[in-house]
Amino acid sequence: MKNIKSYVQENKQRFLDELIELLKIPSISADSAYKEHTVKTADVVAKSLTDAGCDVVEICKTEGYPIIYAHKIIDKNLPTVLVYGHYDVQPPDPLNLWTSPPFEPVIKTTKLHPEGAIFARGACDDKGQMYMHVKALEFMTTQNQLPCNVKFMIEGEEEVGSVNLAKFVKQNQDKLSNDVILISDTGMIAKDVPSITTGLRGLSYVEVEVTGPNRDLHSGLYGGAVANPINVLTKMIASLHDENNHITIPGFYDNVEELSKEERAQMAKAPFSLENYKEALDIDSVYGEAGYTTNERNSIRPTLDVNGIWGGYTGEGAKTVIASQAFAKISMRLVPNQDWENITALFKKHFESIASKGVTVKVTPHHGGQGYVTPIDSIGYKAASKAYEETFGKTPIPQRSGGSIPIVALFEQELKSKTILMGFGLDSDAIHSPNEHFGVWNYLKGIETIPGFYKHFTELSK
Ligand code: BES
Ligand code: MN
Ligand code: MN
Repeated sequence: MKNIKSYVQENKQRFLDELIELLKIPSISADSAYKEHTVKTADVVAKSLTDAGCDVVEICKTEGYPIIYAHKIIDKNLPTVLVYGHYDVQPPDPLNLWTSPPFEPVIKTTKLHPEGAIFARGACDDKGQMYMHVKALEFMTTQNQLPCNVKFMIEGEEEVGSVNLAKFVKQNQDKLSNDVILISDTGMIAKDVPSITTGLRGLSYVEVEVTGPNRDLHSGLYGGAVANPINVLTKMIASLHDENNHITIPGFYDNVEELSKEERAQMAKAPFSLENYKEALDIDSVYGEAGYTTNERNSIRPTLDVNGIWGGYTGEGAKTVIASQAFAKISMRLVPNQDWENITALFKKHFESIASKGVTVKVTPHHGGQGYVTPIDSIGYKAASKAYEETFGKTPIPQRSGGSIPIVALFEQELKSKTILMGFGLDSDAIHSPNEHFGVWNYLKGIETIPGFYKHFTELSK
């Protein structure tokens, strides 16, 4: 029976090689051209769970990409941990900005990762972090150190809204019954500042379309005399924030949970350097809602951002044209108590109401989800905290994240259990961006920390 530290040391090359193989498969859920690859990834993940010692491994068909369900039940009287992760990845574009191809993983060193980081799409989000759990399970089963039951549920549609997973969860409450849900799909403050994510923002994602004249027009012959959909759209978008960067949609802030002075003071204690933050992004100043700090703006406050905008002529050179239509994709990050469907409805009503004469506006909701906060006095949080103490030698800091994993709120609603977010990524890992990477150190540290969670959770549950 080996301890986890030596097990990781002895097997680290294989752990890296296996992850690299998984990262070679382009499981881009948003792009149907990659369908075969995405389906194949599910098979590879399923096999890894069989190899890691699960007794039951199922590839569950859905209307979209399959969900892998697996378990190892050792004793019905012991607690059950449900691990969730996703095997799909974001599209890698713009490809020309990658320093090595996104699906040809290589280990390179960086300032923050002197021991190397794996560069590939999905390295951190979420194949690398999901695979830490598979390897931690391998350790526990082969070294006789699995203290409780474990279930895995790994999906292939997280990056496109988890629509089929939501149905699966609602239809399989018994199968998925558990005492705690464990996810590694978030980050931590820094390598020497471990943290546990205690909150996720909700999301409402919409697409808007502004239509003016029935065809593209000569911008000289018609310019100035008809509403230009791009001019109108940009004006409408600009009006969605006031001079203090508050969002102007009526009712938008109605249910926003305001943190107490004490809670905000507690948050402000987490180590943070504004100088480093600006330097990492090559910006000379931060920007955001008046009255809130950078860390508050990106976690406890709701936002509205254009994610893409297009229309008219964007090719080489110039073309004098007034486009018939203009489009934008807009995300709103929400905080607990804001209901995403209600916010979507408020947005739609407001956006339609501010349209200029001479255009029509169409708002199409995409997907969304509720925000989430997890308490820090639960058994799950305490177990995670102890696990980090053992491997980092420090008590982790609770931290609310700005990102979203919409399915987490649904887990609590349907499965009635709390989620613990043990993320090992860094903000600088460039998830969703070119050159996504995941530190070798972070990957191995994650594998090392996870078994401690199982041990302490089982002990604290007695
Ligand atoms: N793993 C991320 C979310 C995340 C990353 C949360 C880092 C906290 C810290 C997840 O894969 C993701 O990208 N979620 C999407 C939402 C989804 C509906 C597409 C997001 O946050 O944009
Ligand atoms: Mn993710
Ligand atoms: Mn993601």
